[in-house]
Amino acid sequence: MSLLIKNGTIISAVNEYKADILIEGEKVTAIGTGLDQSAQETIDAAGKYIFPGGVDEHVHYGSFGSIDFSTTNAALVGGTTTVVDFAPQPKGLSIKESVAKQNETAQGASSSDYSFHGMVMDPTDELDEEILTLPEAGISTLKFFMAYKGSPFMVHDDVIFKALQVAKKVGVTVMVHAENGEIVDLLQKQLVQEGKTDPIYHAVSRPPLVEAEATQRAIYLSQIAASPILIVHVTCKESMELVRDAYAKSLPVYGETCTHYLTLTEDNLAKPDFEGAKYVCSPPIRTQEHLDALWEAVSKGWLLAVGSDHCANVGGFEGAKRKGMGDFRRIPNGCPGAQDRLALLWTYGVEKGKISRQKFVDVFATAPAKIVGLFPQKGQIEVGSDADIVIFDPNYKGVISVKDSLHGSDYNAFEGMEQIGRPEKVFLRGKLMVENSKFVGQKGQGKYIKTKPYGLCYADFK
Ligand code: URP
Ligand code: ZN
Ligand code: ZN
Repeated sequence: MSLLIKNGTIISAVNEYKADILIEGEKVTAIGTGLDQSAQETIDAAGKYIFPGGVDEHVHYGSFGSIDFSTTNAALVGGTTTVVDFAPQPKGLSIKESVAKQNETAQGASSSDYSFHGMVMDPTDELDEEILTLPEAGISTLKFFMAYKGSPFMVHDDVIFKALQVAKKVGVTVMVHAENGEIVDLLQKQLVQEGKTDPIYHAVSRPPLVEAEATQRAIYLSQIAASPILIVHVTCKESMELVRDAYAKSLPVYGETCTHYLTLTEDNLAKPDFEGAKYVCSPPIRTQEHLDALWEAVSKGWLLAVGSDHCANVGGFEGAKRKGMGDFRRIPNGCPGAQDRLALLWTYGVEKGKISRQKFVDVFATAPAKIVGLFPQKGQIEVGSDADIVIFDPNYKGVISVKDSLHGSDYNAFEGMEQIGRPEKVFLRGKLMVENSKFVGQKGQGKYIKTKPYGLCYADFK
């Protein structure tokens, strides 16, 4: 199959230019003005922007009680062609076995392409040895949780520290969920004892400084181990500044944020009739001053990427979140968001003048691909790259709604928010998957793509 996309404006992470794109099979084979190669199909993309399919390097399909990979067609409708899932580690399984187990749930189910981060939940004596062999198995990123005390997720600092020491030997990127789990647990107990059980107290129990304290600790661990670190879902000004200042001191310290931290405020958690539960995720959404600081950080490159932290609880609001009525600690964490990442970044970032179109492409596709070790196969439009392509109509105007959401949940955390622009066509490895926001592909065609070590967090690491 060959396809010629003519007359569009290609946006990359560094520039934009008018050119034609030739796709043969699954790859981009030529880019240039006035390409006259014959192709089986030609599309006129005049007036449209063309950018690489999104890489969402922060999603949960199946862990934390979330809906599985069968709903990744939602990501495609939202212009994301590759998702990177966190594979939970069941007790007794190695990281490689855990990824293989999670892959069983994705194979034949995922519509988008996909990769995995390891997630350390059962740190055994064998972990350090195993880290050395992860890259050859196609696993190049590992997440550690400093939070969720009392669950299988939280690990102690020594586990993270030892992993940092080993990971740098083979280019594995250590990712950290930075919140002080001990203090969150204590604050939660105190609040519940005082009868403060509504969803808003989820945020009260996890204030910005609880995140900043853990962020600083993680940065110190990385500094002592002399090893790169990526702080995931940075939500507040204080943590962002710690990441920014560490990097400015030439430390290999990097950060990611997520779309809901850029677009939703804490006011949502205070909505009446338990509606606030829809927005419970960790770390929590914050106040406007933090949103403003995060946008600045994204624009200036102090935070590298914007994931969705997609985590659509099985049962949604009515069947899952409502179970936490009377005790916010029982509200399952996470919000669906993979479908809306592009719309939110474009509408509230590009259209509001907070980020350039190039920065949008960078945080949406290019930098995430570099962080996880998928670049240059994913995250850019170049000869030889996978033909993962979004043809974007900047003139569309609409409203985000659960009615159009394919994530399988019964609500959308961004319900009613204005949307400017939308993917008109989305191609995954040359195949048309989306047309005018409708999924037209065959479900389950996504491929598992192994990641390579020495991702972006190793760029300046000597
Ligand atoms: O609330 C969230 N973010 N759920 C997913 C788990 C995590 O910490 O990323
Ligand atoms: Zn996390
Ligand atoms: Zn997450």
